[in-house]
Order: sequence, then structure tokens, then C-alpha cells
Amino acid sequence: MSLTNFPGSVSPSPGTNPITKVTMPALAEMKRQGKPISALTAYDYATSRLVDEAGIDLVLVGDSLAMVVLGHENTLAITVDEMLHHTRAVRRAVRRALVVADMPFGSYHATVAEGLTNAIRFIKEAGAEAVKIEGPRFELVRALTEAEIPVVGHLGLTPQSVHRMGGYRVQARTAETVLQLKADALALAEAGAGIIVLEGVPREAAAAITAELPVPTIGIGAGPDCDGQILVFHDLLNLTFAPAAKFVRRYADAGALIRTAVEQYREDVEHRAFPSDEESYHLAPAVRQALDATRKADALKKN
Ligand code: KIV
Repeated sequence: MSLTNFPGSVSPSPGTNPITKVTMPALAEMKRQGKPISALTAYDYATSRLVDEAGIDLVLVGDSLAMVVLGHENTLAITVDEMLHHTRAVRRAVRRALVVADMPFGSYHATVAEGLTNAIRFIKEAGAEAVKIEGPRFELVRALTEAEIPVVGHLGLTPQSVHRMGGYRVQARTAETVLQLKADALALAEAGAGIIVLEGVPREAAAAITAELPVPTIGIGAGPDCDGQILVFHDLLNLTFAPAAKFVRRYADAGALIRTAVEQYREDVEHRAFPSDEESYHLAPAVRQALDATRKADALKKN
């Protein structure tokens, strides 16, 4: 197999257009050209296919899946094996978008060596094309970069720090903390991070960082001036069973759609309105006739 035949593209199915794969350098180029980057979380095959086919540039298998898919109170409990399981499903679905896997809490906090070992698993065992880590962990980012693993940094409101922060609170509200955030973002980029997610920070802080940073910023609750935006899939579609944060825009009410459809199904089953004759398989007429004849013969014998 040649590795150089189709640079930057995925072989299309016959009759379809070639797909240009999104890569880390392609996202950097989008920043240079001032083209906004669209990103969304996804956690399974079906929704990842929809997200990818809708043309989203970056799919994050976020550890938010601990909350929105697995029902945990926060993101801390999810394990590397659980994240790998979901990343594999997403990888099987996505053809165009860049697939980024979130490193879960505890998988990179003890030592750089452990972080590196776990990150390699996401690339090797699950097909991720980059990993995301929270916080200003410059040494780890440098080690991952040296190991050829693209890194997405994540600063501001970092949900894995929920206990330190005392809840999910907007960060960088003072001049001092804005300057610290900017210094951290620049140092992460200098260490090799190719993208920085800015979460839960004032618009002005995100705008200033975006203007100075050589790599793209992707905002969530960080205002419109970032190089791109990301939302949690379940927030976008009202599947969270919780009030939306200020920065969430609900683009559809999939919760209501699914509830209505499931209630309708239950009622149809209860009233024997599902399945109909058209939704049933039928015997061929000759087989039916043969069975009828057998039944009649049996009835005559009994009389
Ligand atoms: O886990 C996640 O969904 C995230 C995004 C909100 C950036 O980290």
C-alpha cells in the first residue's frame, strides 16, 4: 500500500465526492485564513456519523460523556478503558473530522510517563488523532509532542478541577488571572499544543488570547471571538435533563422528539396497533394452503 497516493484525502465510495480529511495543520491553516472552526462532542457511532456528515471540523470524545451518557455527577469517575471504548465507536463513524480523545481524570495527573503511556493507548488502540488534556501541564505537552501525539490544551474552567474550583465557575475574572491565563496559553502553545480550548472565561479574555496565540482557540462559554466554537452534543439537542448554561444554544429539542416517539410506540403496542399486517412477514400462498389442508385433515380425523 502506498502512503503517498492520496495525500489528505479518504478514498470515496464509488459515485461520491472525495473527502478531504481534517488534520491539525488544516485547523491551523483555518486560523490563518480567519475561517471559523466548528467542533462538537460525540460519543457513539450513530451520532458521530451525523456530526461528521453535517461537516463539523473537529469531533471531541469528551469526558463529559461521564455525565451526559453515563449519568455521573461530574467527569471524575470515567476511566481510560471507558473512554477508549467510546473513542473506538466514534473513530469507526468519522471519515472527515479530526477525532480528539479527552484524557480522563487520573490518566495523566501522577506522572508524565503515565500520561504518555495512556495517550499512546488513545492513538494506537482507539484511532484518536489527538488527545486533550486539562490545565497548564507544559512538561506533559512537551513529552506528548516529542512522541508525535498532537495535543489539544484546555484552560479556564477545567471540569476535572471541579473540587479545587469549588464548582463550575467562570474563571479569569480579574486582570491578574487574565494575564495568568494568557501566559499559560502561550506556554502551552510553545510546548507544542496545536489547539487550546478556552472554557468558561470572559469574552474579553478569550479575545485577547486568541489575538496573541499562534494556534487556534476553540471556545465554550468564552464568547464569539475565539477561532472556533465547541458545544456538548447533548446540550445542543436538549438531552441533558438540566437547565442550560448561559452559553448553550439549544438548536433542537431531541428530548421532546424522542419522548413523544417512545410514548406513541408504547401506546400502539398497548392497543395492538403495532405491528400492522404490512409490517409482518407472510407465508407464501402455497405454504398457507398446505398448512390449511393439514389442519382440515387433522380436524376430520378427530371427528
Ligand atoms: O468533555 C468535554 O465535553 C469537553 C468540552 C466541553 C470542551 O471538554
